[in-house]
Amino acid sequence: MSTTLIEIRRARAADATAVASTHDEAWRATYRGIIPGPELEKLVSRRGEAWWDGAIRKGSRVSVLVFGDSVAGYANYGRNRARSLTYDSEIYELYLRPEYQGVGFGRRLFTSARRDLVQSGMKSMVIWALSDNEPAVRFYRALGGQPVARSSEKFGDKTLDKVAFAWKA
Ligand SMILES: CC(C)(COP(=O)(O)OP(=O)(O)OC[C@H]1O[C@@H](n2cnc3c(N)ncnc32)[C@H](O)[C@@H]1OP(=O)(O)O)[C@@H](O)C(=O)NCCC(=O)NCCS
Repeated sequence: MSTTLIEIRRARAADATAVASTHDEAWRATYRGIIPGPELEKLVSRRGEAWWDGAIRKGSRVSVLVFGDSVAGYANYGRNRARSLTYDSEIYELYLRPEYQGVGFGRRLFTSARRDLVQSGMKSMVIWALSDNEPAVRFYRALGGQPVARSSEKFGDKTLDKVAFAWKA
């Protein structure tokens, strides 16, 4: 019998390549058929290794879930960006590589990010998801998120609805 270690830790500059490829795989798998192809391509190519390296080095909060020696997923989070919403913090992104979805890793990454934010004094939190990303919407509901706001975002010539889920202290 062998044991595979699972660890969630702050991303290091050396993780930039793995986080970029996780982002690439997860975004293509999640948004194909939702975000128009050329727009999705732009969103993915903008976020290569150099972008992640810069974000990690400048101290953005990026955490990674490492399964054995592979980065299975990441979360990035910090202060809430939407001034219209009165929540302290926000998880900006939470993504797992497709082969690691559905086995509890999303909950672990979410819980770890939430704990980190609460420990920094940010007690309430919001997360936005595209309404068409039904698995994510169901995931945030399963984790106790309350839908508190709706908005929309333009991707090329397509406008997509999004929903904000919130967690109070
Ligand atoms: C969304 C995502 C982060 C969820 O992580 P995950 O590891 O697949 O989910 P978990 O296995 O941790 O599930 C946690 C809970 O949510 C529920 N859940 C997860 N996905 C679900 C779905 N599609 N439908 C219904 N419930 C779901 C699980 O049943 C589980 O509930 P339980 O703990 O009460 O049994 C992951 O699937 C992912 O990376 N998806 C693609 C990227 C994405 O959409 N990210 C969010 C962008 S806003």
